[in-house]
Parts: sequence; C-alpha cells; structure tokens
Amino acid sequence: MHLEAWDRDFLADQEATIGRHKVSGASLGGQHEFDPVNLAAQGSDGQPLIGPNAHVRLAIGDGASKILRRDYSFTDGMDAGTGELVAGLFFMAYQRDPRTQFVPLQARLASQDALNEYITYTGSAIFACPPGIQSGGFLGEALFV
Ligand code: HEM
Repeated sequence: MHLEAWDRDFLADQEATIGRHKVSGASLGGQHEFDPVNLAAQGSDGQPLIGPNAHVRLAIGDGASKILRRDYSFTDGMDAGTGELVAGLFFMAYQRDPRTQFVPLQARLASQDALNEYITYTGSAIFACPPGIQSGGFLGEALFV
C-alpha cells in the first residue's frame, strides 16, 4: 500500500475511491457503517454516489457471489531505496470455489479499481482447507472420494 500517496490525496477523493465515508464507515449516501451498500444511490446531479470505479462497487459486482474476508494490515519499517513506508495488507479470503468467487472479483478490481493507484499486488497463494474429520475418518478424506 502506497500510504504516502494515499495520505496526500484529499478526503473526497479517498471516499470516492473506496465508496464509503471515511469517518463513519457508511457507504456513500448511507448513515451507518453496517447499513447495506446502496449502489443505486444518486446525488442531486443524477450521478451515482458510488462511482463505477469505486472499490466497494467492483467488489460487490452483481452481488451473486460472495467471499469471507479476514485481512491483516502490516507495516515493516522503511524501504531503504525510497525512504517510503513498507506497508500493506495480507488479504485473506475464504470460499468454496475461487474460480467462481475470488477470481472474477479480482479480475474486476484488476482492470477497473480506483484503489489501484494506491496499491500494488505483490503475490498470492491458494490453499485447500479440508473439512472437519468424521468419527473413523481422516484429514483430507473428502479429497479422495
Ligand atoms: C490493499 C488492498 C485493499 C484495501 C486497502 C481494501 C480496502 C477496502 C475497504 C476500505 C473496504 C470497505 C470496508 C469494508 O467492507 O471492509 C473494502 C471492502 C471490500 N473489499 Fe477491499 N481492499 C483491498 C483489497 C481487496 C481485494 C484484493 C479484494 C478481493 C479480491 C477486496 C474485496 C473487498 C470486498 C469483497 C469488500 C466488501 C464490499 C462490500 O460488500 O461492502 N479488497 N476494501
């Protein structure tokens, strides 16, 4: 995450980039953090309050597929070459089938997300998590049936 660039941006643009109010966390046009995101909300000019490239709009997509998220942000000193903070987000997501959930979502973000001005993707990994063990069964058994 390029925090210096993000911090230099002005508030209205930060909010437009994400699609949420910075202080309350409410989606643009909403009042409270956990109010549902209203992608149809319009301003007095008839334009969508949450723009086409806003992170939350692209993340939600058509709403047909969802993921569970658990992110960890980190800072790790300074880059010796640039003097900028080494900071980022370990973005973790859980789902049944990445082919229909994470991958199309990430593809939307990759090509259109306004947040891409402030972040650089550096790596990824995928792990299979076998279900719990039945009495008499073994770890990962479901992978072999
Ligand atoms: C450094 C990278 C990222 C930052 C700083 C970031 C930031 C945010 C913020 C501030 C929100 C709104 C608050 C919230 O719902 O938590 C959000 C929502 C979300 N982001 Fe990200 N995000 C990042 C990367 C990603 C990636 C890689 C994905 C998936 C490929 C993703 C998917 C989502 C989803 C699904 C939502 C919830 C939208 C909703 O239902 O309201 N984000 N993100």
